[in-house]
Amino acid sequence: MSAIRPAAVVVLAAGEGTRMKSATPKVLHAICGRSLVGHVLAASRELDPENLVVVVGHAREQVTEHLTATDPAVRTAVQERQNGTGHAVRIALEELGGSVEGTVVVVCGDTPLLTADTLKALAAAHGADGNAVTVLTAEVPDATGYGRIVRDAESGAVTAIVEHKDASAEQLALREINSGVFAFDGPLLADALKKVRTNNSQGEEYLTDVLGILREAGHRVGASVAGDHREIAGINNRVQLAEARRILNDRLLTRAMLDGVTVIDPATTWVDVTVTFGQDAVVHPGTQLTGATRLAEGAEVGPNSRLHDTGVGAGARVDNTVSDGARIGAGASVGPYAYLRPGTRLGAGAKVGTYVETKNAAIGEGTKVPHLSYVGDATIGDHTNIGAASVFVNYDGENKHHTTVGSYCKTGSDNMFVAPVTVGDGAYTAAGSVITKDVPAGSLAVARGQQRNIEGWVARKRPGSAAARAAEAVSRPAADED
Ligand code: UD1
Ligand code: MG
Repeated sequence: MSAIRPAAVVVLAAGEGTRMKSATPKVLHAICGRSLVGHVLAASRELDPENLVVVVGHAREQVTEHLTATDPAVRTAVQERQNGTGHAVRIALEELGGSVEGTVVVVCGDTPLLTADTLKALAAAHGADGNAVTVLTAEVPDATGYGRIVRDAESGAVTAIVEHKDASAEQLALREINSGVFAFDGPLLADALKKVRTNNSQGEEYLTDVLGILREAGHRVGASVAGDHREIAGINNRVQLAEARRILNDRLLTRAMLDGVTVIDPATTWVDVTVTFGQDAVVHPGTQLTGATRLAEGAEVGPNSRLHDTGVGAGARVDNTVSDGARIGAGASVGPYAYLRPGTRLGAGAKVGTYVETKNAAIGEGTKVPHLSYVGDATIGDHTNIGAASVFVNYDGENKHHTTVGSYCKTGSDNMFVAPVTVGDGAYTAAGSVITKDVPAGSLAVARGQQRNIEGWVARKRPGSAAARAAEAVSRPAADED
């Protein structure tokens, strides 16, 4: 239905956002893994518009670069000076050749909570009622700063939108506000924009005046009331940014919980829109899941873990861990206190234990790196055990080198594997070894100094010390009892 598929969505994002007090343009501030304007683009895309135009102005190079990276099909229109929302839409239409046949939806770039469902309902109501313009409105507890929706006392029909700064005392008492989101008939919008004047308190071309202009000309004007007023909140400062993040995060966690995920403490669990969960995944308190992180069925993460772009296999357990770009196999165990860096691949049932850091490391099925180790640039086979406090010495000061350890190996504690080096299948290495040469399969490698005991050294060199007295006490024959 063409009424539901808009000819264009226009996103207004030229404003500066001074109240953010930031070197970053307002619409590029991010919540839950997407910029503010990125959320608006994602919701707009779900309408499947023929054209998606963003009006840019302030910091336009930076904003345009971000838009192109986010949604390559997006078009931009430059508004050199911010002469008002009406002026901004006029510039967007110029980018589309002056006017478009069909519905034009206008949204603001700073309303990240606006859902695709609300936009679809607006577009559907607009089409079904045959309106020239349909405005998305909401009843808000505090209408300060918003344009007020003025309705005819008898019919209830919308007659005008009056900006806060231009409103009478009576109008200021109205609680129904303009969300800044509209559906317009394209050609009627283009005509009406030519008639918008700047005789208001801000000296700007108000998009909101289009509504009165169309009504005066005898066209149908309608309103669609948003179910949840919080959806239309525009972000102006960092307090509102934090509030929006909390609301969006709650929305994402609620959806996950209804889909069968256990979230022990939603208040301290933070997720991005791009995170996905399998059924019966469990998230413990203090956990942040970002990017393309996925928890498979029954995976359990946290407490106090930060996972970015990390895949956690079915039934795997991740505790007090920081991970970026790792793949954790089914049933694997990570932490507490592990740091998995990009390129880490843990096989099924593998273990990376306490105070272990890994990077660019393929660790096979059932293989364990349980304690206090660094595994960098390495391939370890299946069912191998790496002794505590081992370091894969991958860096010679200029280049990184690779270490390979086979399957069913048992390497001793406190080993240094000086790369490039290979340990064959089934080999053992002695504790405290510095492995600089390849170890053939099935061998025991011992690479450490021989122990030498210099007897009586303490008595000679530290006479009268506590150590000397302790040593003397055990060397003296036991005193007679009587
Ligand atoms: C606007 C509406 C007001 C509504 C409110 C909802 C008008 C005249 N007023 O007021 O009725 O209640 O939004 O949040 O439309 N922008 C441009 N170019 C401009 C001016 C604005 O791109 O020249 C963009 C801004 O970046 C922003 C959006 O349009 O994303 C809204 O502009 P803003 O200045 O915030 O308008 P409000 O005064 O909040
Ligand atoms: Mg605003």
